[in-house]
Amino acid sequence: MRLLVTGGAGYVGSHLVWEAVDAGHDVVVLDDLSTGHAEVLPDIELVVANLLDRDRIHAGVKRLKPDAVLHFAAKSLVGESMRRPDLYFRNNVVGSMNLLDAMREADVGRFVFSSTAAVYGEAETCPIEETSTLAPINPYGTSKKMVEELLAAYADAGWVNSVALRYFNAAGADAKGRTGEDHDPETHLIPIALMAAAGSGRRLKLFGTDYPTRDGTCVRDYVHVSDLADAHLRAVNWLEDGAGAQRINLGSSEGYTVREVLTTAGDVVGTPLQFDEVERRAGDPAVLVASHARAKAVLGWSPERDLRTILETAWRWHSRASSGHAASTTTT
Ligand code: UFG
Repeated sequence: MRLLVTGGAGYVGSHLVWEAVDAGHDVVVLDDLSTGHAEVLPDIELVVANLLDRDRIHAGVKRLKPDAVLHFAAKSLVGESMRRPDLYFRNNVVGSMNLLDAMREADVGRFVFSSTAAVYGEAETCPIEETSTLAPINPYGTSKKMVEELLAAYADAGWVNSVALRYFNAAGADAKGRTGEDHDPETHLIPIALMAAAGSGRRLKLFGTDYPTRDGTCVRDYVHVSDLADAHLRAVNWLEDGAGAQRINLGSSEGYTVREVLTTAGDVVGTPLQFDEVERRAGDPAVLVASHARAKAVLGWSPERDLRTILETAWRWHSRASSGHAASTTTT
């Protein structure tokens, strides 16, 4: 199939690109390179454009006429979204609308959307099912929820069928070393912990030790980014016959505390990780664990890679590329 991947130079998007290429698909990436890394996509057709450039997006989708669009391009920092909500609504909501309208005009009817566990906010149940109340607590989560609502309306109107995939904690790196996590600024636990172990000079802070959990630290559901990529390809296949606007959690249904993650990371690295215990970080719910029953029922998907594999692949990436993609590409 011919797949158009927006945000394909980013973390999750670039893993999807490589999984899709491995599966024999023809991939075109559309990315404005504001946070993505073109170096991880050698030999992949890359259109550098921003989704707010409506005319270019319409012309691009019309020219490429893909069989399906996978939409990763978005702003995704929770903290930044609190300070600059305008950027999140404009980029994530208006940008998605431009893309969907370009698809309508070009008669492209299959859409896979990169959504997030942040649509749930402080979840009432554990594990979280897709039917749980959606009550995002930041503009990032609200912007993703708004796009999910757009998708329901566009499906009802008979314009675009879609699958929104709600990621829990994406982590890990491509087993073949072609891409990995490289955010600037980096805010996520696993890359910060491993970069500190690789000698980044940044000391790891453990945020909050007084949560009502088994060891006082937050519980999260970590899912390997290549498993996420696999779920996207399954979603594209599902859309060959499937209609409507599906919403599906992507998590492992298993939660680990921050301390458990750091202990396993120490095993993988070969030396215990050093960290400082500090106050809670604002906005962190105590426990976020997915039910992935719907992913299994609809897509036949369950994650194949466990926490250790997540940490091993991420460690290979960070220990080789401790200063990011630039360092990695000189060694590949
Ligand atoms: N943590 C630390 N130290 C750090 C970074 C994180 O102790 O330096 C802790 C956090 O407090 C949290 C856990 O590690 O308890 C995981 O934090 P991450 O920042 O790695 O991930 P989040 O759970 O905050 O974020 C995830 C997704 C977001 C999504 C959010 C919804 O990555 O996209 O869940 O709450 F918006």
